[in-house]
Amino acid sequence: MRMRGPEAIGITAHATGYVWARNGLSHPELSTREGRMLSDSMRPMMMLSSVLGGPTLESYLLARHRTIDALLERAIEQDGVTQVIEIACGLSPRGWRFAGRYGSKLTYIEADLPGMADRKQRALRRMGSLGEHHRVEVLDALLEEGPGSLAALAAKLDPDAGLAIVTEGLLGYLDREAVEGIWSRFARTLAGFRTGLYLADIQLSGDASAPVRAFRVMLSALVRSRVHLHFTDTRDVAGALKRAGFERAEVHHAPQVAAAGEHREDPAQTAASSERREDPAQAAASSERREDPAQAAASSERREDPSARLAHVLQAG
Ligand SMILES: C[S@@+](CC[C@H](N)C(=O)[O-])C[C@H]1O[C@@H](n2cnc3c(N)ncnc32)[C@H](O)[C@@H]1O
Repeated sequence: MRMRGPEAIGITAHATGYVWARNGLSHPELSTREGRMLSDSMRPMMMLSSVLGGPTLESYLLARHRTIDALLERAIEQDGVTQVIEIACGLSPRGWRFAGRYGSKLTYIEADLPGMADRKQRALRRMGSLGEHHRVEVLDALLEEGPGSLAALAAKLDPDAGLAIVTEGLLGYLDREAVEGIWSRFARTLAGFRTGLYLADIQLSGDASAPVRAFRVMLSALVRSRVHLHFTDTRDVAGALKRAGFERAEVHHAPQVAAAGEHREDPAQTAASSERREDPAQAAASSERREDPAQAAASSERREDPSARLAHVLQAG
């Protein structure tokens, strides 16, 4: 299998698709044989990591997926988001789960490059999930405008309602210039809507754990190009988001947020707990404090104006 660039990146979507399915988050139509083979090939590294007492890559993937779910759920239920564009959706089951849950109250658009978009559309059709409020579109996140760009897709949505943009597992494959370019386009697009929210995950160079570092090396070999660590710390990433045009940027430590959520058995409450932080330095420090459920619940009372363009970014373990 000799692939490069976006096509090679697409294959990694099969591995994560298989992880979501194996953990009861997905549907068999979104779990592929390629995904199982890839996932099995990563198993020795996962086992080594858990034998050494570290978090496994799978636990990080699940933490990031569930935390994005929780933040999105809160935005829909409390902050007026009624439209979602999940860019580079791959074989993620989130669109299927959210479309099933919210029905006509939510318009969920899954978007990816042509090959993956076609595959996803066929799978969702077999699952009976597609309709007016759940669809798949071809979109290249790197396009500034024109057919297949975010600008063209967003122009078809309702500006008087809230929009959330999600990217999961995409940023690491793009260089810093490309990431800053897509963030500027996202911020500009979100500014045209009543409420704007961007949710994503990122790996920071400053504190990547051993399994995350090892995974990066494996992924770089698999996709035959570099997997990037663009930002050193939370201050660095929040600064770049603000320069791109986001009014607020909050960085969460995904495994910690997910672990705290398991304590509380209410992930939406966990997600809300970090809403009041504005200063990225404070954001980094406050992840230490997020152990206390009472404090977390109280903090959700003090949330900022939800109409601000907000980016939440989940940091790898
Ligand atoms: C690692 S997968 C992540 C898939 C899914 N979000 C998940 O977490 O399981 C990366 C996805 O990015 C897509 N992709 C790569 N470059 C892209 C681009 N420029 N625009 C949109 N999607 C892109 C690939 O086709 C692939 O589906």
